[in-house]
Amino acid sequence: MQTFSTKAQLKAALLKHHRKHDHVVLVPTMGALHDGHRALLEQARKLAGEDGVVVASIFVNPIQFNNSSDLQTYPRTPEKDLEVCEGAGVDYVFSPSPEEMYSGERSITVEESFLSATLCGASRPGHFSGVCTVLAKLFNLVQPTDAIFGKKDYQQLAIIRHMVRDLDFPVHIHGAEIVRHGNGLAYSSRNARLTAEQKEQAVVIRKAMLQARDEFRAGTDVRTVKEHAAAMIGAVPGTRIDYLEIVDAETMQPLEENRNPALMAAAGTVIALAVSIPGMSWATDKIQALTGSDLTLKVSTGQTVALCAGALAIALAVIALVSVSTAQRGIRRIE
Ligand code: PAF
Repeated sequence: MQTFSTKAQLKAALLKHHRKHDHVVLVPTMGALHDGHRALLEQARKLAGEDGVVVASIFVNPIQFNNSSDLQTYPRTPEKDLEVCEGAGVDYVFSPSPEEMYSGERSITVEESFLSATLCGASRPGHFSGVCTVLAKLFNLVQPTDAIFGKKDYQQLAIIRHMVRDLDFPVHIHGAEIVRHGNGLAYSSRNARLTAEQKEQAVVIRKAMLQARDEFRAGTDVRTVKEHAAAMIGAVPGTRIDYLEIVDAETMQPLEENRNPALMAAAGTVIALAVSIPGMSWATDKIQALTGSDLTLKVSTGQTVALCAGALAIALAVIALVSVSTAQRGIRRIE
C-alpha cells in the first residue's frame, strides 16, 4: 500500500492503471475509519479484483462543515486508518491537506439544488455543496471506474447519483450496506464522541423509526405517525426533535397524506426525524449533534432490491436523522 499527500503523486501512480484501462475503485472517506468503512473497502477490493486498484481518500473536507467546532472535534485517527486500509487490501491512500486540496483562490463550487433542499440539506446549509465539490475534485483526480458510498448516508448517496448523472462523470456509483453495533446503532465516525449513556439513549432512534415504519405501512396517517414517533423520542429525558418528516424516497419532498400505503411504498417513501439528546451544548452543536440517521427498507414481495437503483420500485423506506452529540446516518434493510 502506498500513501500520497499530493495530487501530483496520486496522479503519477494512477497513470499506468489508466493507460491499461484497469478497474480503479475509489472509496472517499473522512477518516476515523470503523467497521462500516472496512466493509466499503472490502467491497471495493472485491470489485477491483486482483488486477484492479483500490484508492481510499482520507480527507476531512472543511467546506462541508458549517460548524467550526464540529470540524475541530471531528475524530481523527490517522494511524489506525492506515491499518484499516492495509487490512482491507487498499492499494493507494490519498490523504491531502486542505491547502493541497483547495486553492486559496477557489471560486467554483458544485451545487445540487433539488434533493438537498430538505432533511440534512436544510439543517446543514452548504453541507451538500461541500460534499459535491470535493467529490467532483476526487473524481477528476482519481478518474475511478467505480466509487463506493455507504447507504447510511441516504440523502448523500442520492445526491451523488444525481451529480454523476447531471455532470456526466464516467463513474459507476455503488451503495454499500450499513454495518451496525449489536444494539442497532449504525457505525459512524462521530459516534466516537458519544458517551456510553448517549449510545444507549440513541437506541430510541431505531425504535421510533421501526414503529413509524410499521404504522405507516399499516395505513396510519402521516401526522399521527410523526406524532407517535415524536412521543417515543420525547419520552427519553431531555430529547429535542430537530425535524421529523415523511418524504418521497426519490425526491425527498415531504408527504402530506398516507393515502394508499401500498402504492406509496411501491413508489418509495422515507420517514426522517432528527432529535437532540442532552449532554451537548445544543446552540453551538446543532450540526455536529446529528446522530443516528437510519433507513429501514422492507420489500413487500419479500425480495430485496437495490436501494436508489433508479427505476426499481423501492418498497417502504424509513430514514431517521437523530442527534445525540455527534453524527451518524444509516440505512437498514429488512429481508
Ligand atoms: O460521507 C463522507 O464521509 C463524506 O461526506 C465524503 C463522501 C467522504 C465527502 O467528503
